[in-house]
Amino acid sequence: MINDNYYDKFDRKEKLKFDSKVVHGGLGCDPITGAVSFPIFQTATFRHRKFGVSTGYDYSRLQNPTRQELERTMAILEEGEEAFAFTSGQAANMCLFGILKPGDHVILSDDIYGGTFRICDEIFSKLGCEFTYVEMSDLDKVKAAVRPSTKMFFVETPTNPMMKVADIRAIAAIAKEAGALLTVDNTFLTPYFQRPLTLGADIVVHSGTKYLCGHNDVIAGIAVVKDKALAEHFRGEMKSRGNGLGPFDSWLILRGIKTLSLRMERHNENAAKVARWLRDHEKVKKIYYVGFEDHPGYSVNLSQATGFGGMISFEVDSEETAHKLLSDVEMILFAESLGGTETLITYPITQTHESIPDDIRRKLGINEKFVRISIGIEDPDDIIADLAQAME
Ligand SMILES: Cc1ncc(COP(=O)(O)O)c(C=O)c1O
Repeated sequence: MINDNYYDKFDRKEKLKFDSKVVHGGLGCDPITGAVSFPIFQTATFRHRKFGVSTGYDYSRLQNPTRQELERTMAILEEGEEAFAFTSGQAANMCLFGILKPGDHVILSDDIYGGTFRICDEIFSKLGCEFTYVEMSDLDKVKAAVRPSTKMFFVETPTNPMMKVADIRAIAAIAKEAGALLTVDNTFLTPYFQRPLTLGADIVVHSGTKYLCGHNDVIAGIAVVKDKALAEHFRGEMKSRGNGLGPFDSWLILRGIKTLSLRMERHNENAAKVARWLRDHEKVKKIYYVGFEDHPGYSVNLSQATGFGGMISFEVDSEETAHKLLSDVEMILFAESLGGTETLITYPITQTHESIPDDIRRKLGINEKFVRISIGIEDPDDIIADLAQAME
């Protein structure tokens, strides 16, 4: 039986520093056996001892102890009321937009992950919801986009893939004034560098597939909410849509989170080195990296985050150079996704941002010469040497 003292211990864990919280999670050890690695409760259903007596668990679509441990951990790390772990970042966003009713209006970053755009454009717009995409770093444009029907703001900062930075505190104030919710996709920086709920956001979403998992071996999504009413929304959505993360995948994400601080530091450090090298390369014509002092979002990012992350986008001199780079990398892997230990290079125009209409993509700068790189935790000299030989 679960001993109440473990819940007291859980409260005390909230007082730990971030680097300790990632290691010790929610309950951390198994309350029943003391197993240091939280168990994988690989079960679909739970036995009731007798009529009217329940362990608190009924059926794993509703609640599963391993998933709950991940959810508790994410609520602690993002400093939220409750968290929910889904089968993908897309599944988390489907439940998020499930808050909307026909006629509701949402303001989103103009440069956004293609899958999020697809959810809005292909699913929720058909249900009568309306979406406006704005340059979130321009607060006048954000204010001008507000309508009486605006119910939510959805911000990525930095954005995928153009690395634009939005001022979370300022947008939270605009959202509050409009009586709307602010959701921040915190996939790129993770709570290690940025905690949007402490800056005024109402909901944080993640592709847990990325840095939280960290090893390119699980597809997962996370939503963290700041209050109980929002928690009830996500609980109901998960129960009905049946998209809660399975126990083994939950355990893998929990295991990944234990090294989140170490990995994020190394991604950050490596990306700074690689970005400096890329900036001086004759075939690199434009570079998008939040850690450069001349990046337009540099100071806003520093006012709300403690690092820049591991993502860099850049434009090379020709389509041929881009294709050669993607084909000739050896250690670096030409693959979609980001945030894992391995450095991955991606071609947004045909991969991650394929769903975005071509005119919007080109206006943003996503063209045939544009590549995105997720800097891994390898030796940075090897990453640079590989890029150098592939761009020769
Ligand atoms: C910023 C961002 N949000 C959400 C998603 C969707 O997450 P998933 O692929 O886990 O469904 C992605 C995926 O690349 C992403 O990059």
